[in-house]
Amino acid sequence: MTKDEIILANKEHLFPAVFHYFDEPLVIDHAKDQYVWDADGNQYLDFFGGIVTISVGHLNEQVKAKVHEQIDKLWHVSTVFANEPQAALAKKLAAITPNGALTKSFFTNSGTEANETAIVAARCYTGHTEVIALRHAYHGRSAMAMTLTAQANWRLGQAPQPGIVHAHNAYCYRCPFGLTYPRCEVQCAKDVDELIRTTTSGRVAAFIAEPIQGVGGFITPPKEYFKIVQDIVSQYGGIFISDEVQTAWGRTGEKWFGIEQWGVQPDIITSAKGLGNGLPIGLTIARPEVADSMKGATISTFGGNPISTTAAKAVIDFIEENNLRKNTAEVGDYMRGCLLDLKEKHQIVGDVRGMGLLQAIELVEDRRTKKPATQATSELMALMKDRRVLMGKGGLMGNCIRMSPPMNISKTDVDAMIGQLDESLSVVGERLSHGVTQTVSR
Ligand SMILES: Cc1ncc(COP(=O)(O)O)c(C=O)c1O
Repeated sequence: MTKDEIILANKEHLFPAVFHYFDEPLVIDHAKDQYVWDADGNQYLDFFGGIVTISVGHLNEQVKAKVHEQIDKLWHVSTVFANEPQAALAKKLAAITPNGALTKSFFTNSGTEANETAIVAARCYTGHTEVIALRHAYHGRSAMAMTLTAQANWRLGQAPQPGIVHAHNAYCYRCPFGLTYPRCEVQCAKDVDELIRTTTSGRVAAFIAEPIQGVGGFITPPKEYFKIVQDIVSQYGGIFISDEVQTAWGRTGEKWFGIEQWGVQPDIITSAKGLGNGLPIGLTIARPEVADSMKGATISTFGGNPISTTAAKAVIDFIEENNLRKNTAEVGDYMRGCLLDLKEKHQIVGDVRGMGLLQAIELVEDRRTKKPATQATSELMALMKDRRVLMGKGGLMGNCIRMSPPMNISKTDVDAMIGQLDESLSVVGERLSHGVTQTVSR
């Protein structure tokens, strides 16, 4: 198919809800390592990694070789038969979870399904049903996951499910209490106690949260936040589910899981995305008592399929063998330093936040009022695309640029991205100061 035929077929035969970035959708033809190529043969530096999913580079040779081998051997048996790739992955995962405490896995195909499974497990274990999630969260696209999600844009056409309430998140740049850290004494975390006493029955099944809120725009809490909330939730009988769909596998630097940065022990971790480096996989891994409380049988036809689990094991091995968690910390720190320099230079950059190779900038029209520069963010994305760098967008107001390149990139790649970002910020900043905006959608 030609590029135009692909775009037309998408338009005519996909749900329009399958939205694409940019006015003219970018048709990606192939990819390798940190690069993708469009249908016209243009090469792009991929700083979004397929929405925080390409952890070890597109078509990583080591992962590819293992997957090829498996394709010639066994594709599918379903969960009613045992197979080696699933068993080997489950065993490896049990060895790397925080303090070795989460040892039993349930595999599915996506982050949404992983979170569905986690909530079922928490309800079975505690005998309670009510769940606390966070404002600005994103947890997936099933009916339940959309209710856990707290961004109106991502909650389509359904009445919310009962039994889910949302606490304030630790959004320090726009503090819901109008306070400043550390003088605030992390009021947002302490408020969870009142939330439970006023909006639930006081019997909590779980608190589910992302260690750093991904779709929300890499909102990063103060270091005390999770400990305070976990202590409160556990007083009401609830367990803690860490949604690590974006933050796991070393993405935040040094640690395997984002929650380890906050020194808190979760009862369940969910993940997906970077675990398969592009092959579909969802993971719910739990403390044995929690997993064992799910009595009866449950099935996921494709969950734990030999190809995805082979890829996932190969991804983890690659991260370990190549010390990518260290590289992520080092290159991530370097990138953060460069972004902070850009903040000094460009008034439009209101905030820089994130950890490791999960870094965002929040764009504002005015630093004092913090009015979100939503349109300028779309313009910036388009300018960067024209300069052959792909970035992600996020935030409730669509005014955050998200950067999550493969974890094996180098400082040279960061320099290449920063050079283009610097020039593009000058262009949008200049337009903004003259009240000129381009019409760019999404
Ligand atoms: C934190 C988080 N949880 C869950 C999901 C849902 O994952 P999936 O799209 O694989 O269903 C996402 C997807 O972006 C996510 O970022």
